[in-house]
Amino acid sequence: MQIWHDNMPYGKIAERKGHQGWMKQEGSYFIFPGGGTMFPDGAERYIEKLTQYVPLKSGLLRTGLDMGCGVASFGGFLLKENIITLSFAPRDSHKSQIQFALERGIPAFLLMMGTRRLPFPAQSFDFVHCSRCLIPFTAYNGSYLIEVDRLLRPGGYLIISGPPVQWKEQEKEWGELQAMTRSLCYELIIVDGNTAIWKKPAKASCLPNQNESGLDLCSTNDDPDEAWYFKLKECVSKVSLVEEIAVGSIDKWPDRLSKPSARASLMDDGANLFEADTQKWSKRVSYYKMSLGVKLGTAHIRNVMDMNAFFGGLATAVASDPVWVMNVVPAQKPLTLGVIYDRGLIGVYHDWCEPFSTYPRTYDLIHADGINSLITDPKSGKSRCDLFDVMLEMDRILRPEGTTVIRDSPDVIEKAVHVAQSIRWIAQVHDSEPESGSTEKILVATKTFWKVPLTSK
Ligand SMILES: C[S@@+](CC[C@H](N)C(=O)[O-])C[C@H]1O[C@@H](n2cnc3c(N)ncnc32)[C@H](O)[C@@H]1O
Repeated sequence: MQIWHDNMPYGKIAERKGHQGWMKQEGSYFIFPGGGTMFPDGAERYIEKLTQYVPLKSGLLRTGLDMGCGVASFGGFLLKENIITLSFAPRDSHKSQIQFALERGIPAFLLMMGTRRLPFPAQSFDFVHCSRCLIPFTAYNGSYLIEVDRLLRPGGYLIISGPPVQWKEQEKEWGELQAMTRSLCYELIIVDGNTAIWKKPAKASCLPNQNESGLDLCSTNDDPDEAWYFKLKECVSKVSLVEEIAVGSIDKWPDRLSKPSARASLMDDGANLFEADTQKWSKRVSYYKMSLGVKLGTAHIRNVMDMNAFFGGLATAVASDPVWVMNVVPAQKPLTLGVIYDRGLIGVYHDWCEPFSTYPRTYDLIHADGINSLITDPKSGKSRCDLFDVMLEMDRILRPEGTTVIRDSPDVIEKAVHVAQSIRWIAQVHDSEPESGSTEKILVATKTFWKVPLTSK
């Protein structure tokens, strides 16, 4: 794994973490030997060790969350096992770690565990991992561990390597972590050195019966799927579906990709909508590849963003291409992101009237289906922000020579073409798929490689 040094000429991590094998500079490249703070001998050997206790190579586990990921080597090496890990970390003393992860083509997101819920639905991740992620799980009345519990799928695994697990001078925190996991009825699978692994029950919470940590269940008003600008809670969320979507009940990867989960079927006409959406995107993606020259399926496109993902139909249609897709479900739209996770795909909630939490030039293809709907208030029908600002944000995120595909009515596409030209994209407008009978237009644009000329004094 290597990237051009000049694409991101920031040497701090290589200098400070080179001895742990995070990354090194070699000539014109940065190389990534695969090491980390808790796995200096490489993520591959660490994953082998975990596989003794966690079924990482069986298809049972597909979606992971790596908290405090460094340059995301753990998630990167799991891709070989057909596991997709959403790796996250903030920009802190570890500098542009997430930008390096994305430059490597590994799914990653700029985020920190702070005061708000993480922007994911409840019961999404088949496992949650932290290797020396520095998150104090039991502080603040346990609200960080409670957040992890919200995100973990029933029957899923929690893996913590490093402090406080059997860590000198963190005996108190280690005791508290064990007590809290017992209160949540997690099964302690193993404590192996500084690695502890638990399995979350695949049944409803046992909290009211067994609770040495004094944890409370949230009231019925709490919607565990709400996670956009939502303060962390100190109570454990109640959920309606448990056994149906647990690890072991849900189909193995890749079968789960094409089956509507119980969560999809709960929605109005959910199972039919799911099937229709899957068919629609399969046709659309063939049209993009065969007729519109979109280079999906080639080495030109690796990091893909679907700005309006609904059930993840686009990501499903490209699942056998060498890409990964960030499925974004707008916070103002129905909360369908749980269904996307049930399929074995990943994504986040976001409001497109705000900047997206990533570095510049980190995606190769950005797709916006119904771009105007992303900025329209669903109640009043009025625009909440300007199309120009959204497209400028897309331009920031897009790699030079990357592609955007925007679909909407002819009048919205006309406006979008105007913006595209003003930001120097090369734009072409196409009719929608011939058999669709739709009047919708498709704008396919390429971001050109240009620099603001230096002014001479
Ligand atoms: C010592 S490094 C470990 C990195 C990686 N997990 C490994 O084992 O090599 C600590 C990581 O935790 C991240 N981190 C620290 N506090 C965090 C927080 N509150 N939320 C998310 N990540 C955090 C840091 O940015 C960094 O990526």
